[in-house]
Amino acid sequence: MSIVIEASGISRGFNRTRLEHYGDGLRHVMDRFLRSPWQFLRRPEHEEAFWALKDVSFEVQQGEVLVILGRSGSGKSTLLKHIIGLYRPLEGEVWIGDKNLVTATGKERHQLLRSFGVLYQGGALFGSMTVLENVRLPLDEFTDLPETARNLVAHSRLKIVGLAGTADTMPAELSGGMQKRAALARAMALDPRLLFLDEPSVGLDPVTSAGIDDLILQLSRSFGITFVIVTHEIASIFAIASRAVMLDDRSKTIIAQGTPAELRDRGDDPRVRSFFHREAERNENEKQVQPA
Ligand SMILES: Nc1ncnc2c1ncn2[C@@H]1O[C@H](COP(=O)(O)OP(=O)(O)OP(=O)(O)O)[C@@H](O)[C@H]1O
Ligand SMILES: [Mg+2]
Repeated sequence: MSIVIEASGISRGFNRTRLEHYGDGLRHVMDRFLRSPWQFLRRPEHEEAFWALKDVSFEVQQGEVLVILGRSGSGKSTLLKHIIGLYRPLEGEVWIGDKNLVTATGKERHQLLRSFGVLYQGGALFGSMTVLENVRLPLDEFTDLPETARNLVAHSRLKIVGLAGTADTMPAELSGGMQKRAALARAMALDPRLLFLDEPSVGLDPVTSAGIDDLILQLSRSFGITFVIVTHEIASIFAIASRAVMLDDRSKTIIAQGTPAELRDRGDDPRVRSFFHREAERNENEKQVQPA
């Protein structure tokens, strides 16, 4: 199998005001004060860098469904934004095929960016456009096909995701699950071999969420699309992932890689264990509060 993405040694810091550091707890603030009291007190609103990602490396193989796991704030979306070229890493490299995304410029970068599709966290469709216009958007932007051809392609994408009859409706008329499908159709507009999805089933009920999982598997099997998916739904992870990498919210790096079952059964790392068991408990509780 060939490697489609290789991320190596990605690090990224952000600046935060001192006030925001209080969110990390008093001990952290005291630590900073004791390490360098002068620097800490000198400028009341000075910004301090903190790490969002630290030395993150992994590969994605062709045709696999790789899942990025981790608790809220562990940097999953930030990592995804680095792999799709929205953020530039402070250190490290991202290779897509044989092209370095970090250093690519001009036409090469443009070609790289249009070679994959993205469904962002929240999945926003434009509310003032019809579903068809939303799906057609990347075609309008990146191709010079005539309108009839663009409409034809957009219709075919809607059909693939099971939304054939919805072309002329407005996004607000669709259910949450249908909106996700439409956003997925838009991500597929340019016929990418590679799709990035950030929390595709968040906020959906378990049955609808399972429907999205089925769609992902179907796209992976029928079209050989490679997926990189951020999710923390345990059921989804086991349903779709060929492999998972887990980010840790404290060390900001990958602490485990493997098949979902391998990670679940890793008794040696309490961080991995608690993620799987707490999430499982949470999912169980959610199911219990669902009305019959
Ligand atoms: N542009 C930014 N500027 C400053 N801080 C940022 C920025 N983007 C992300 N962060 C911080 O980086 C950390 C990781 O955020 P990120 O959104 O990647 O987490 P996440 O794992 O996707 O969480 P969630 O599961 O809630 O979506 C957070 O502490 C966040 O506040
Ligand atoms: Mg996120």
